[in-house]
Amino acid sequence: MKFFIDTANLAQIKEAYDLGILDGVTTNPSLMAKEGITGEAAILKHYVDICNIADGDVSAEVISTDYEGMIAEGEKLAALHENIVVKVPMIKDGIKAIKYFSSKGIKTNCTLIFSAGQAILAAKAGATYISPFVGRLDDISFDGMELIAQIAHIFAVQAYPTQILAASIRNPIHIIKSAEMGAHVITSPLPPILALLSHPLTDKGLAQFLADHAKANG
Ligand code: E4P
Repeated sequence: MKFFIDTANLAQIKEAYDLGILDGVTTNPSLMAKEGITGEAAILKHYVDICNIADGDVSAEVISTDYEGMIAEGEKLAALHENIVVKVPMIKDGIKAIKYFSSKGIKTNCTLIFSAGQAILAAKAGATYISPFVGRLDDISFDGMELIAQIAHIFAVQAYPTQILAASIRNPIHIIKSAEMGAHVITSPLPPILALLSHPLTDKGLAQFLADHAKANG
């Protein structure tokens, strides 16, 4: 399973890359706004900055919701860097745009997936990735992990090449369960990724080893 970081914060992207386990980055308009990146020129430059840190796919989301707008925006984004993946919302014109990008060899990430039916449509259109939002489903008392399992089953049975990118990850259990359910990729903020490192018995065991070594070696 690949690990993407879900942020537009350059320092956090660098920190995650320095760990040596990161495979890519996802952003969205809310994450860009959170970093204070506004205006077309600054937004495009920020995507290039991310691509220059990240060695892997970088999702950049279109703002348009009509077919022509998405095509124009997506082509501009894709031309920025070879690692750009055009992120397209799960709406009717989005599906048409994904089909177009797929025919042009431009990678896509279909975002805001909340049902298996949406995932099937995006896969049929040729999406490179589909992003089911696990945490937002959990927030409204639907089991986000059940959706990952259902989509993983369907994609395996149908042999769809589209990759399942588990998104809206909120905690380390979401990451572990995504691996168990067969997601191809998770995208997570930095804290849940770092939380995978921790176990109290690891800390206790290491402290004991170091204390025993110090006692024996003076
Ligand atoms: C997906 O790519 C989105 O950027 C993201 O995972 C949404 O997560 P949130 O529900 O925490 O905003």
